[in-house]
Amino acid sequence: MIKERLFTPGPVPLPPQVIKALGQQIIHHRTPEFTQIFLQTRENLQKLLNTNRDVLMFASSGTGAMEASIVNFFNEGDKVLVINAGKFGERWRDLGKTFGLNVIDYQIEWGKTYDREKVSQIVKENPDLKGILVQHSETSTTTLHDLNFLAQISNSLEDCLLVVDGITSVGVYKVFPEEIGIDILVTGSQKALMLPPGLSILYYSQKAENRLERSNLPKYYFSVKAESKKQSKGQTAYTPAINLIIALNESLKMILEEGLDNLEKRHSILADMTREAMKELGLKLLSESPANSATGVFTPENIDADKFRKELQKIGVRVAGGQDHLKGKIIRIAHMGYFDYLDMIEVISAVEITLYKMGYKVELGKGVKKAQEILLNNLQEQ
Ligand SMILES: Cc1ncc(COP(=O)(O)O)c(C=O)c1O
Repeated sequence: MIKERLFTPGPVPLPPQVIKALGQQIIHHRTPEFTQIFLQTRENLQKLLNTNRDVLMFASSGTGAMEASIVNFFNEGDKVLVINAGKFGERWRDLGKTFGLNVIDYQIEWGKTYDREKVSQIVKENPDLKGILVQHSETSTTTLHDLNFLAQISNSLEDCLLVVDGITSVGVYKVFPEEIGIDILVTGSQKALMLPPGLSILYYSQKAENRLERSNLPKYYFSVKAESKKQSKGQTAYTPAINLIIALNESLKMILEEGLDNLEKRHSILADMTREAMKELGLKLLSESPANSATGVFTPENIDADKFRKELQKIGVRVAGGQDHLKGKIIRIAHMGYFDYLDMIEVISAVEITLYKMGYKVELGKGVKKAQEILLNNLQEQ
């Protein structure tokens, strides 16, 4: 018997409280009972994002909220800058193009973040930009993009929205849109919020709200105006993902109980343990600006990463691989959501054993030791 341990950057493992909530008999959504839970969940989401503004939930995967960000706040022909540094940057570009936006596609080598001078130059040449679209954490390359600089730039323009995909950053970092200056922030359920897929979440600023009346793009299901009217009263325009919302309420309670400072710190330690252990084993990290949600790492040259992943599965560890040109070259190890320190020791140990088995003669325990030392240092500081 081998246990299945999930270390993929979405979906991530579910906490027992969430599994219990999901296992309950369904309740009807047009009831005071559901309204009460819905409003409590909404309030907890506002606490997570440190805002009193509208935070909407859609029954969709994260991409649904990305689509909602385009169709509710932009017009056909609007010029937008896409910070395209991976698979999900491409998604912003493709969504923008699908709905007739005039997309400036700033392509960045995978594993790198944007260049400030380049962004400044694009903005200088295009003062009529209506939006800057970016991933906070680009999951395909495990890269973090700084938002503060982009917020500053966006704010300096006459009517530009900073649109942030926080699908693998909300719940890993404190992402407070009003403090940072984010106009639209989206996230999804199957990442650091520790739920199955099927719920997406959207925050929008006052500046973005001013655009709602003017936006002429087609929308029906993903109408922010229709949902906002309903959701502020504890209902949804269409049938909500009832059990997922009930479970989200539970996972948000866990997150708020841990405290957002502690949550951010835990993720930083988990990431540090993983990254430093991989380096200690002589492996190269993919990202020059690594995010605390997942770690992308190259396997040694003579070891195909997808074969490596299959070997890892034999001892019960499932990690993700690379996409497009990184296929067969990297593995991605998640550490967002329901993970604690010893989980990382487990996955690092599995990586060592598998490397050894596949002919890369690592010193067994070297990466684990490094991770233990980092953990110990942090525990002693606390
Ligand atoms: C950064 C980022 N954006 C967007 C998505 C797409 O989300 P979904 O698959 O839930 O539609 C993902 C999913 O992995 C992601 O990691």
